[in-house]
Amino acid sequence: MLPGSFPGTRLRRLRRTPGLRTLVRETILVPEDLIQPAFVVAGEGRREEVARMPGVVRMSLDVLAEEAREWRRLGIPAVALFPAVDPARKSEDGREAWNPEGLVPCALRALRRAVPDLVLIADVALDPYTSHGHDGLLGADGTVLNDETLEILVRQGLCLADAGADVVAPSDMMDGRVGVLRHALEAAGHTQTVILSYAVKYASAFYGPFRDAVGSAQALGRGDKSTYQMDPANAEEALREARLDIQEGADILMVKPAGPCLDVLARVRRELGWPTFAYQVSGEYALLEQGIRSGLLEGPRAVIESLVAIRRAGADAILTYYAARAARWLREGTIS
Ligand code: PBG
Repeated sequence: MLPGSFPGTRLRRLRRTPGLRTLVRETILVPEDLIQPAFVVAGEGRREEVARMPGVVRMSLDVLAEEAREWRRLGIPAVALFPAVDPARKSEDGREAWNPEGLVPCALRALRRAVPDLVLIADVALDPYTSHGHDGLLGADGTVLNDETLEILVRQGLCLADAGADVVAPSDMMDGRVGVLRHALEAAGHTQTVILSYAVKYASAFYGPFRDAVGSAQALGRGDKSTYQMDPANAEEALREARLDIQEGADILMVKPAGPCLDVLARVRRELGWPTFAYQVSGEYALLEQGIRSGLLEGPRAVIESLVAIRRAGADAILTYYAARAARWLREGTIS
């Protein structure tokens, strides 16, 4: 019998029972790998469904604090906050982004009180705050200005760190933002604030539902973000982006979207060896959820498989709108 050939080697032997499959499983998904994104809105007792994200709600701070306690109990270590800002508070320069009494700073303080050991992540980008829906300042000719935007991002980053963010997450894709943020944080004494850089962020069609959730879709209209977010056709460029962000002082890299970019995620994680997260974005969520609700897909299994795939590709942690539900399924053993 030749070594390595049938019947000496029968790969099905290790698939015969759940016990055997468990023993040789290469990728383990646990609630501790998941980060819950949360949409926050002003007011009290508010819990509004997001139109294009069935099953996802915008929450006022009181509701958020309650939910966050439950997420922590489920084993989820972190939450990422996104504000749905009142259109009356949006402006050309997005100044609400560094209002210390703004929605996100208030949410950070409320969560720190309610769930002290929850890791609090806050986005650094202007799009929820600008009247035009872009992530940066607009020049007279409509281009998104890089260096002028950096100054504003620094103000926002410091405001978030002051309010107690453990992690600031620049998602704007301006050149040089990680470096200026790192300098400003150090200079202000925020030496322990983690920078989670959306290093590899594609100009993706999968962000559509998110823009509804934070209310930037209407503002942005038909505008697109291709002059700052990456061309989905590029992978070498992703490595350049990620390397630069490490040099500039990023602690963690992120690849986004996740499912359509597993190859890039795997390369970034393996070739750079840096902590790397992936974001299963709103469009990925909406597709799965729509498929499940219409009976085309089997719910928990399809969701868990999508998350295991992201882990298998190399993500250390995953931002997913399914975090709480997936954590529950994993704890209850719904999936084996
Ligand atoms: C803002 C930001 C976006 C997302 C996270 N932060 C939208 C965008 O860049 O247009 C998308 C998240 C999702 O789709 O779930 N800069």
